Amino acid sequence: MQQEQFILPAGVTVRDPQGNQYVIEGVLRKGEFGAVYLVRQRSQELHLFALKEAIHPNKGDRERFAFEGEVLTRLNHQALPRVHRVFEYDKLKRVYLLMDYIKGRNLEVLRREQPGTCFPLPQVLVLLAPIVDALRYLHTQDPPIVHGDIKPANILVPAGGGEAMLADFGSAKEYVPGTATSFLGRSSGYTAPEQYRTGTTPSTDLYGLGATLYVLLTGSAPIDAPSRLLGRLNAGVDPLTPANLLKPTVPLAVAQALQRALSINMADRFETVEEFWQVLLAHGTQQRPHAASRDLSQTSPPEQGIEDGGPESPQKEHMAPHAKKREALRILAGFLVMGAIGIAFFSALRGLTVLLLCCLGVLLLSLGALLYDFSSLARTLQKNPASVQGKKEK
Ligand SMILES: Nc1ncnc2c1ncn2[C@@H]1O[C@H](COP(=O)(O)OP(=O)(O)OP(=O)(O)O)[C@@H](O)[C@H]1O
Ligand SMILES: [Mg+2]
Repeated sequence: MQQEQFILPAGVTVRDPQGNQYVIEGVLRKGEFGAVYLVRQRSQELHLFALKEAIHPNKGDRERFAFEGEVLTRLNHQALPRVHRVFEYDKLKRVYLLMDYIKGRNLEVLRREQPGTCFPLPQVLVLLAPIVDALRYLHTQDPPIVHGDIKPANILVPAGGGEAMLADFGSAKEYVPGTATSFLGRSSGYTAPEQYRTGTTPSTDLYGLGATLYVLLTGSAPIDAPSRLLGRLNAGVDPLTPANLLKPTVPLAVAQALQRALSINMADRFETVEEFWQVLLAHGTQQRPHAASRDLSQTSPPEQGIEDGGPESPQKEHMAPHAKKREALRILAGFLVMGAIGIAFFSALRGLTVLLLCCLGVLLLSLGALLYDFSSLARTLQKNPASVQGKKEK
């Protein structure tokens, strides 16, 4: 409640030390320690920015903002938002970070809108490809940069089909072995166990990426690390449910790769994000969106498959040419009968003989059609006995 009155309403102007003025247009997100606003610069009316704030900043907040601003200004990658400046506004006792506004929504909001609150694997691989590329880039800096908070809410998906971007470097750190600092924020399923203990390393982002994939594919975030440690201690088993048990459409190899990325011990995880990604690509690209929906129909009750016409359609296609031939024979027979009646009518005496001969012809043709039916049924049975069995059961 107290937090609410700290959020600045639309129309308020924030000034930086250079005298630039930013007019608040709306709130993009209300957070625990401040908000992210959509702002418009007074002198550049057309240019929109995102302005992230920390209210009543302490030393830690100032350092965090300064590092977030510094790191994002220094780095240059298409999946990282461009930061313009970090400044303090003494009048309101707030620290600000001004960056380019990415019009769109974060991946957590998008996920919740999906049927089953999850995405199919091929779509997840497309969505996360630029994020993995950004992580590769961060981890190969000297010294490596650890993002430290990889989760769907920190991934922004631009409206109109642009590539996803990685936001929120508030937990980012330069990784110098032996100097890692531990995490003091809230716990969640995306927080790696070492963030409570020894501190972050590039492997921490691998854990966050694994947790992000887990929730995007299953619709449920992984159980948090402290509960996993407790479960192991008390019952001797890790209570992290494999992704394929939550969602049978997740291939076993992908579920196993996720379990490995989410290992409690860093040494049990993949060496690098790249190694993890290659395993996912090897198994994930085999599953096209079309194939994914076919897998779903395979796991659903048989009557569903019949309703959508799936399993029956090839059978229908197979029978279609025989039906056509049969129909042609019947039409021919009809013509012969009509012809015979006509001839009988016009030649009174010999008509009866002609009629009898034609009836014999029709009889022979019908017999032929019947034999053809039997032989094609026998062929179908030989090729696919299950299809006939299914029909019988129905
Ligand atoms: N540059 C941007 N353009 C558009 N929207 C943004 C931008 N930066 C942040 N946002 C929005 O604000 C939300 C929060 O941003 P960010 O994660 O940086 O702040 P935070 O205070 O660390 O939040 P949290 O504590 O939830 O991680 C994002 O999920 C996104 O919806
Ligand atoms: Mg965030």
